[in-house]
Amino acid sequence: MKILSRGILISLEGIDGSGKSTLARNLHIHLANQGLDTILTREPGGSALGKKLRTILQEKEVNVCDKAEYLLFAADRAQHFDELVIPALNERKLVISDRMADSSVVYQGYGRGLSIELIQTINTWAMHNIKPDITIYVQVPVEIALQRITKRKEMLSSFERERLDFTQRLIGGFEKLFHQRRDVIIVNGQLPADEVCEQAFDAVIKNIQALNVIS
Ligand code: TMP
Repeated sequence: MKILSRGILISLEGIDGSGKSTLARNLHIHLANQGLDTILTREPGGSALGKKLRTILQEKEVNVCDKAEYLLFAADRAQHFDELVIPALNERKLVISDRMADSSVVYQGYGRGLSIELIQTINTWAMHNIKPDITIYVQVPVEIALQRITKRKEMLSSFERERLDFTQRLIGGFEKLFHQRRDVIIVNGQLPADEVCEQAFDAVIKNIQALNVIS
């Protein structure tokens, strides 16, 4: 087992259907195979409370307004950091999270139009000022998202049109947010899953070596 001199936090981001969760699972296996003490988690749903919040957020059996929706994601995040992320980092583990704070900035900020500044302030508070060391963005062009949404239908229903606009705003949001961030690795989500993993794995290893944390 390779011992890190401190914990490392990696977040994975991308639109729905980008292949991000498959990459998270594959990356976890590859990094663990390198002898790194690695755990895979996710937002929402990384803690016991988070699993309940995930169900509420996914099923939406009761009306959830945009602000309440964000605050539920933020509650999940606070619990996730308290219960899982911070203890794992303290144990010098490598933590991979399928989504994190940037998802709220993009989905609730750019997507739903809530204040990005406010979201970033609450995220920072919920995360005890901890930021991911590395963020991997699985990039998929609008056309691919469009194909996946419409499933090759020629006419879009009004609901699908709304989703299309929303997805376009999300892609625009991710691009804007990640444009000049040096901690972000961009991988091509159109490639086969094993090639996406290879791209991400090589970049992560390079970044971890640059952080000088492997003794
Ligand atoms: P997942 O399917 O990638 O696990 O994500 C669940 C959904 O929740 C996905 O549509 C993105 C959304 N989401 C937000 O809207 N804001 C957030 O802060 C997070 C973490 C996820």
